[in-house]
Amino acid sequence: MTTHVSQAYDFRHPEAAYAELERDLRALLSGERDLVANAANTAALIYDALPDLNWAGFYLYKSGELVLGPFQGKPACVRIAIGRGVCGTAAGRRTTVLVEDVHAFPGHIACDSASNSEVVIPLLRGAELLGVLDLDSPKPARFTPADARGLERLARAFVESLGPAPGN
Ligand code: SME
Repeated sequence: MTTHVSQAYDFRHPEAAYAELERDLRALLSGERDLVANAANTAALIYDALPDLNWAGFYLYKSGELVLGPFQGKPACVRIAIGRGVCGTAAGRRTTVLVEDVHAFPGHIACDSASNSEVVIPLLRGAELLGVLDLDSPKPARFTPADARGLERLARAFVESLGPAPGN
């Protein structure tokens, strides 16, 4: 088994930092396909690596809604309907949603009052929606388009770790 050693990534150069983080995430998840185990380690690595987060984790798509999955941070709301809040919007549109000020986002679901900005990445395996990856920050406008692109790479690495869809 590979042991993960906590290391500093230099986010002044986001593309290089996310490339390193993606490499480390792929190493961390390699050889394991369990969704809960890999989601838990992905959330832990991201929460440990990125500065200024108060929440990082997953909502999983189950029976037509999002249900809380593995995460780091304060306890969060459990079920989110598709189309609701930042998470449900990203899941419904199947695109990344970057919110500089959550208080200005119509329908934002406040789980932790410390959150001021948020980014949510949908998890897609082909046409299948698996859930979303959600990051919150107490800093306004914490996430840039470069973060969104980097986090999309990490989300892809996580989805690929699960292997092909059953039946493929
Ligand atoms: N703020 C999210 C809800 C999840 S928490 O941030 C962990 C939303 O509006 O979907």
